Amino acid sequence: MAKVSIESLDVSGKRVLVRVDFNVPLLTGPDESKSVSDDTRIRAALPTLDSIVSRGGSAVLLSHLGRPKGIADPELSLEPVAAHLSGLTRTNVSFCPESVGPQTVNAAHQLQPGSILLLENTRFQPGEEANDAELASFWASLSDFFVNDAFGSSHRAHASTEGVARVSSTAAMGLLIQKEIEYLSQLLPQPEQDLKRPFVAIIGGAKVSDKMGMIKSLLSSVDYLLIGGAMAYTFLRAQSIETGDSLVEQDRIDLAAELLQTAQDQIALPSDHVIASEFQNDSPSRVVSQDIPEGFLGLDIGPETIDAYQNRIRSAGTVIWNGPMGVFEMPNFARGTVAMAEALTEATASGALTIVGGGDSVAAITRAGLESQVSHVSTGGGAMLEFLEGKTLPGIATLTDAV
Ligand code: 3PG
Repeated sequence: MAKVSIESLDVSGKRVLVRVDFNVPLLTGPDESKSVSDDTRIRAALPTLDSIVSRGGSAVLLSHLGRPKGIADPELSLEPVAAHLSGLTRTNVSFCPESVGPQTVNAAHQLQPGSILLLENTRFQPGEEANDAELASFWASLSDFFVNDAFGSSHRAHASTEGVARVSSTAAMGLLIQKEIEYLSQLLPQPEQDLKRPFVAIIGGAKVSDKMGMIKSLLSSVDYLLIGGAMAYTFLRAQSIETGDSLVEQDRIDLAAELLQTAQDQIALPSDHVIASEFQNDSPSRVVSQDIPEGFLGLDIGPETIDAYQNRIRSAGTVIWNGPMGVFEMPNFARGTVAMAEALTEATASGALTIVGGGDSVAAITRAGLESQVSHVSTGGGAMLEFLEGKTLPGIATLTDAV
């Protein structure tokens, strides 16, 4: 069901409560001050904020940061995020060190048209994750409209996502959520849909268990599923290939074997690996084919695998990428991941639809400076995976239906 869009709301002179996902990584400086180290998610919210302030409205922003579990933790304050947002926009941005209580009400009521107020971390409130109705009603009472633009948090039924939408008379989608849905919907299995083929999915990262649902759902629509990263070793074990000391999820080997049996023509596994004896950047490394000897662990895909995967990606019509191919944080084991990012940009230039999602892959493509050369970088981690599994996201489902 289509949802009301922020674009259809007359926000002039109105206060709009906006749930954003400013759950961003922070760096601590030598003087203990904090700064934002990756602002992808903050930039992604700017079109919605601009849509409000440029039409004479004001915006009260709600976001979580980290997982403080209902306790105020100064390490997870949103104050440095407010300062960063202020540097990204010409709009006046203020910060309220509370998210409930009289100080919050005053700050919201004093907000001038065309200004933005960011409230403190919603997860400092015990009622946030419990989806407390009273807390949700308090937040809803601060504004004339509620807008959810926190795609990355919309799989959470929390007070600031699902709860506040349920008690608001008008709860609309922001422009980021609209864009995410528009791109990601193209990857959902729909027989009548004209998906550009071949459709290639690249899935990496550490945990098979986290991504099993997504892998199963993707197998119903992809032509090729390229597996890399630590999760590949569980699949290789399922084929009785030796994986040395590499990370293997023993309790998922049977499931991996089942998937390989039912989809062997679709699934590609690494045929060579960059291995080392220590989980360290400077640990001496070498390339091996197939079996990884005892005392060694796989830390990246090898050159033969890179070639094979790049060829598949370059000739694809649609590509989705979630999860790195190796320990990309260590420069000596980043080659496989960077090579996927490069192939994705080549595919995009040749007309393919290319989508990157999940914290590590987004960080990898941003670090490689290639994020503007793919079709869409999703701000969702868990939210994107659940969306692609076809699950209902409560923070979107509760929004007001468009008539
Ligand atoms: C994310 O980083 O994926 C979102 O901000 C949601 O965070 P959470 O997993 O802590 O709910």
